Amino acid sequence: MRLLVTGGCGFIGTNFVYMMLEKHPEAVIVNLDKLTYAGNRFNLLPVERQYGGSRYHFIHGDIGNAELVAHAITTHKIDAVVNFAAESHVDRSIADSTPFVLTNVLGTQTLLETARRLGVPKFVHVSTDEVYGTLGPTGKFTEETPIAPNSPYSASKASADLICRAFHETYGYAVTITRCSNNYGPYQFPEKLIPLMILKASRGESLPVYGDGMNVRDWIYVTDHCLGVELTLLKGRPGQAYNFGGNAEKPNIEVVKTILASLGKPESLISYVTDRPGHDRRYAMDYSLAQRELGFEPEVTFEQGIARTLAWYKENTDWLEQVQSGAYRAFMDTWYGERK
Ligand code: NAD
Ligand code: TYD
Repeated sequence: MRLLVTGGCGFIGTNFVYMMLEKHPEAVIVNLDKLTYAGNRFNLLPVERQYGGSRYHFIHGDIGNAELVAHAITTHKIDAVVNFAAESHVDRSIADSTPFVLTNVLGTQTLLETARRLGVPKFVHVSTDEVYGTLGPTGKFTEETPIAPNSPYSASKASADLICRAFHETYGYAVTITRCSNNYGPYQFPEKLIPLMILKASRGESLPVYGDGMNVRDWIYVTDHCLGVELTLLKGRPGQAYNFGGNAEKPNIEVVKTILASLGKPESLISYVTDRPGHDRRYAMDYSLAQRELGFEPEVTFEQGIARTLAWYKENTDWLEQVQSGAYRAFMDTWYGERK
């Protein structure tokens, strides 16, 4: 297996690279990453030290650069692409949607077109449950749920999904799509709910909860998502999208209170702030297709996953300091400054 993994220096990509190198001793991974604010090459330093130049190769670059992508594919004789690269944060897409369209739509199309032209046999596109829009108090998203994205982020991901679908219908290209619910775990950038709340609580800062705190997300531990991507790569039916979820539907306020209690911090740190515009109310995943066709089953409960996550962030305060660059602070100050 010779994989081109894109966005391998981000949260899920990092966990995926570690998992695949360990589980598949024959696998060679080429990681193409632009190293945006969310990408950190140091995440994979142990891999570079152990396998650099043999089973692991890092290329600094953009999935939208067709020439670079073609060079990576031909040089390393790639036999499958797994596309994690994306702008991934909803709040940033509300502040400025341009990079989302450039990377998530145009970048994915360029990567897909280049892989297809060069005859790469398989392409897994990592998408999200957010393409389905929002649910009311009951029901779950299935793969048949119509696509109805509400944020610029989810609209850009949905657009990429449609291009992937068209490549299968038009060219018979072997593209599969994964749609997963909210991930959490090691290496998640501290702008997403769980790591942001861990960071703020441990510093004794106020915890900004949007709206009434009753928006529901279906939380999945990151290694379970990586397992879903691996199974899709190995067994997925070309042209098919697969849902993945973690069986852990929770209102945000419950997640925040769990973090505070685990860290021994008072609930008085919670601060309800102005809601996110277009805020999806509830996500929940029916992943029975992945159970039936791929044998997928999440392995980590929310209680186990949150305990592991809290322990990881406690042990990796250096990582947290390292990823908080000037650009990170500038965005956080503007976004939350306007919501107080
Ligand atoms: P992330 O923001 O942590 O990482 C994204 C990575 O992509 C970074 O390393 C970044 O440098 C890289 N990147 C960005 N633009 C690039 C470009 N043009 N060319 C090459 N590399 C580029 O994101 P994540 O949370 O790890 O998410 C990975 C994928 O999974 C995304 O496609 C996201 O939409 C999807 N997803 C995420 C979640 C979640 O809860 N985080 C849930 C479902 C799906
Ligand atoms: P987030 O981690 O941004 O993921 P997504 O928007 O892709 O689901 O947010 C998860 C939930 O937490 C979402 O309902 C928005 C909410 N939220 C807050 O209440 N406060 C925050 O500071 C953040 C970042 C998110």
